[in-house]
Amino acid sequence: MEQLLALEMIRVTEAAALAAARLMGRGDNIAADHAAVEAMRTAMEEVEIAGTIVIGEGERDEAPMLYIGEQVGRPNAAVEVDIAVDPLEGTNLVAKGQANAITVLAASEKGGLLHAPDTYMEKLCVGPLAAGHVDLRLGPTDNVNRIATALGRKVADITVIILDRPRHEALIEEVRRTGARIKLISDGDLSAAISCAVQGTGVHAVMGIGGAPEGVLSAAALRCLGGEIQARLRYRNDAERERGAAMGHADEARIYRTDELASGENLVFAATGVTTGDLLQGVRFFGGGARTHSLVMTYRDKQVRFVDTVHMFDRSRPPSVRL
Ligand code: FBP
Repeated sequence: MEQLLALEMIRVTEAAALAAARLMGRGDNIAADHAAVEAMRTAMEEVEIAGTIVIGEGERDEAPMLYIGEQVGRPNAAVEVDIAVDPLEGTNLVAKGQANAITVLAASEKGGLLHAPDTYMEKLCVGPLAAGHVDLRLGPTDNVNRIATALGRKVADITVIILDRPRHEALIEEVRRTGARIKLISDGDLSAAISCAVQGTGVHAVMGIGGAPEGVLSAAALRCLGGEIQARLRYRNDAERERGAAMGHADEARIYRTDELASGENLVFAATGVTTGDLLQGVRFFGGGARTHSLVMTYRDKQVRFVDTVHMFDRSRPPSVRL
């Protein structure tokens, strides 16, 4: 089931990436997001699943498409799945033509993806070699040292990604004091979380507070890659706190682990690059077509595929397929 679903999912993230990439550099993050959402929603209608959105664009009253609880796919399909989407991670990155914007989707058997409230989450993400060696209850200094030991590197050879936000001032100072290198990013801690579990990206950890929905999607990816995320919900106000409590997340001290955020056994994760980044190439348009670069992973089958697709829009032009 996952194998077929995985290939179908890639078509969905590819469609969203192709649509959003057209709007690169226009300075309009809302239009880029909208294009991705619409394309993703339309592409999902072709997939032979009875899907329920559990992480999406928001609650029904605030999002017209891909809202939490929305049924997608084909209502009578035999396969019932829960779906988490981030149709465009890095709306501002696309608006400015900057690196690392991706489109993302994860699917699982029902109940396999945490229904996280739309709030913030404190995260600590590492790849397979450091998995099991870090602890969010400890400070960044201890964790950086543990990552360095697990990777057999000097601390100075570790790179930590942190969202460049005023709320991270103390965290950035402390990581600087350890001697580790830091990559401050303007957006995109989900793409960063995937990168830290892929050798060759030059990223070894992600620390700090970002979106909770991105945290669940990060967990789905890290579970497939053998990495680890530890996370704590961080409500911004009482309204969020109440909403979270009503969803069963009243304990703000609770640390969620990878397999609690994404517990599914039949987990599928797909992402496509919109703008070129650490992990994936962005969409490259050419006369009559485009080329996309995606990552698709299945947890149970332990498979990670990088997919390089040529999309031919116009058959009247000679196809431009290159190696
Ligand atoms: P977009 O939803 O605009 O694509 O932003 C994504 C993101 O940068 C995430 O990667 C991150 O988790 C979150 O926003 C951070 O939120 P904030 O911008 O409020 O600090």
